[in-house]
Amino acid sequence: MPVSSPAPSGLADRLDHLDESRWAGLVGKLDLADKVRLLTGATLWALPAEPRLGLHAVVASDGPQGVRGTGEVPGETGLLAPAPSATAATWDTALAERLGRLFAAEARRKNVDVVLAPLVNLQRTPVAGRHFECLSEDPLLSGALGAALVRGLQEEGVAACLKHFVANDSETDRTRYRARIDARTLREVYLAPFERIVAEAGPWSVMGAYSGLDDGIESAPVLEHRRILRGVLKDEWGFDGAVISDWAATQTAAPTADAGLDLVMPGPDGPWGAALVDAVERGEVDETVIDDKVLRLMRLAARVGKLTDPWTPGEQPPPLPSAARPAPAGESEFAALREVLTRGTVLLRNEQSLLPLNPGRLGSVALIGPNAVEPYLQGGGSAYVPAVRTVGYTDGLRAALPDDVTLTVCRGGSSRRHAPFIDPDRLTGLHAACLAADGTVVGEEVRPTGNWGFFRVPDDVHDVVLTGRVTLAEEGTHILEFGCAGRFTVVLDHDVVHAGADDRGIELILESSHNHPATHRHTVRVGATPVELRLRIDLRVVDGEGYGRFVTAHLRHRPPGPTVEDEIAEAVEAARAADVAVVVIGTNEEVESEGWDRPDLELTAQQHQLVRAVAAANPRTVVVVNAGAPVLLPWADQVPALLWQWLPGQEAGHALADVLLGHAEPSGRLPWTLPARATDVPVPHAVPVDGVVDYHERLHIGHRAYDRAGIAPAFPFGHGLGWTTWSYVAAEAPEPSVPVQLPCPAGGDGLPVTVTLTNTGPRRGREVVQAYLEAPAAPGEPVRVLAGFTVAEAGAGETTTVTLTVPWRTFHTWDDVHGRWRPRTGPCRLRIGRSSRDLLLDIGLDIGPGRSPGDSGQGPTPRPAR
Ligand code: BGC
Repeated sequence: MPVSSPAPSGLADRLDHLDESRWAGLVGKLDLADKVRLLTGATLWALPAEPRLGLHAVVASDGPQGVRGTGEVPGETGLLAPAPSATAATWDTALAERLGRLFAAEARRKNVDVVLAPLVNLQRTPVAGRHFECLSEDPLLSGALGAALVRGLQEEGVAACLKHFVANDSETDRTRYRARIDARTLREVYLAPFERIVAEAGPWSVMGAYSGLDDGIESAPVLEHRRILRGVLKDEWGFDGAVISDWAATQTAAPTADAGLDLVMPGPDGPWGAALVDAVERGEVDETVIDDKVLRLMRLAARVGKLTDPWTPGEQPPPLPSAARPAPAGESEFAALREVLTRGTVLLRNEQSLLPLNPGRLGSVALIGPNAVEPYLQGGGSAYVPAVRTVGYTDGLRAALPDDVTLTVCRGGSSRRHAPFIDPDRLTGLHAACLAADGTVVGEEVRPTGNWGFFRVPDDVHDVVLTGRVTLAEEGTHILEFGCAGRFTVVLDHDVVHAGADDRGIELILESSHNHPATHRHTVRVGATPVELRLRIDLRVVDGEGYGRFVTAHLRHRPPGPTVEDEIAEAVEAARAADVAVVVIGTNEEVESEGWDRPDLELTAQQHQLVRAVAAANPRTVVVVNAGAPVLLPWADQVPALLWQWLPGQEAGHALADVLLGHAEPSGRLPWTLPARATDVPVPHAVPVDGVVDYHERLHIGHRAYDRAGIAPAFPFGHGLGWTTWSYVAAEAPEPSVPVQLPCPAGGDGLPVTVTLTNTGPRRGREVVQAYLEAPAAPGEPVRVLAGFTVAEAGAGETTTVTLTVPWRTFHTWDDVHGRWRPRTGPCRLRIGRSSRDLLLDIGLDIGPGRSPGDSGQGPTPRPAR
């Protein structure tokens, strides 16, 4: 079989001769152990090479906020895009595809072949730690945008790795829990984005999740779940790429190999190797299963240009198909990221058109808030990218405001629950002694920092002892905070102040206890004389297997200082004196990260105090939320203007200035629902009970749950304003022109619906036209589901007609008795509007037996818009 998916541009000629039918012959010349060796990574990021197959090392790197690279180039930085939910907020597949291309170029710059993105798990609960990395709470929106990102990457010859297959929607105990999901919900909600992307964009790899799945028939870790990996993904959907394990997720040999996992990452150590060879020799795994995995690896390599003619081991390999290295990223890439962010920024509220500001009429601006001075640009965890540059809010606004406009900046309190890392000037170094198992010193290092997070040690190190002195000079109350992971003791002078006895290895690292260790607070009162404390921290090394060996110690300190009240009073003064107050509040790395879920949706109380006080002092107050996932804004309807600017990535300040000053329209729409109260949240946590996360809400994810319960959110799914207003004039659905046979296709083809709308406001603008399908009310059925969307654009006073597509799949439900898609029957309504709660036009669709779109080729009868 020839390579079926599109070949990388410029590589097509070279790939022509890579006829897969020859590959089996080459693979047949390798012995079993050689073949199995190829199926575990060679390093943390690279897969093995094999001259006899013409296989060069395929290299992976995280996504999805950029392409981090493999860390081999010291000090390497890269483009830092807005977190994925900001991209989703554009609801724009063309823009997402362009972003995919930009990531592909970045990958090529860093010699990366596989970008571990996009992440199309769903935002089932707003407290999910990786919420910011997901696209949306909605399966249709996630699938459409995910497919666009994959297309963008792969059309440039870089593989996407769609993750995390499947239902890894929360972090608590992520390597142990099983998601219990009924068959229909699994198909219609959690598998849906993966299925659509596989059908529409053909991803070259998929990452199998850490977590487990109980679909009512088989309960197993996903990597051992034969029904889902082999059965659904490969056999039923025809996925021809490689299934790669999440990093260090593979626990067993035969069960995972047989279930459908193809490649174990990272390496070189791992549970396959000799154990898998034995399993094949014992007849537990068929050797053809191994051969298929090698072929999938070769296919992946061929697609990214890493498969050539075989060469003799020890000799020079043939040159790789030429893929020109893109020029270093610069202004045009920065501008592209800035555009993604302005397009994704959501204007939630804009009373009396406070925004955009008129720079010509401004004398002074007060920029206020903890996140104004310390923006949170990206979420924590594996998505982290060291940014090539960052533009904070102060710099962005200063650059955009006319020179004669005064800009005052003040913090006005903190967004943090923890103290900051200790000021190095208060430390007499911190000396690390690395000890072997017998206690001999095998290495030493001195670093003037309180951040010994993820401190990597060589293989022969068993313990690390940190010693130093801490000087606290100012009179008053000082807070010291110690955060360590694993087995440790912290001794201050002669007292043990903190200790831990967790002897887990890799699990400790995977649950991110290392970058978010539980902390202990210690209070020290200092009088007229400075205090010097002796500190000793004993740390047992944690063996992170493929990841390396680590210890973690955080030393934080809060000196006596201005009270919150003082800081807020200063901010109020600044606001009062300015023409406009811009308050930036939000989260930080304590709050949003891979590795843990949030306990709640609360911001620090000081931030609420700050917003209320500033808004009372200046009626021209704009609040900007710098957060990836929902936070509660109890004052939302009392501030004149409210913007959601996400975890904005490197161009934060420029993009905010563009929006505030009206150089760009904030045309984002919420890709999730913002709750008004904690008690309204349908799934307020995702803590496993007896190892199970029960998806009891079934089909009612996100906005569907609010509709079912009749609860008004603070701002609904799909909501967002802009610089203009729109009138929806008409909508029409013709007979479907493409007759589709059952089984119903999973891609984006479907019923075209045309919508005519007029820009009734003063400026050119962009509108996201949304369609929701309402089936007749029935117990357990969603009130409405998102059925399609498109972006419209028009000048002031102009009328435009756009077409959106309702995928055929939307007209079907999963029949779990017969295990197949079944057309919905009866009258349905297609409701069209600006958000899930602002529906302006209706089309009646009559879907009778045998007359469903995708059933017999006869489509729903068109009805005029109301
Ligand atoms: C994450 C993946 C990531 C991988 C490699 C894992 O901990 O779950 O999303 O791609 O690490 O960094």
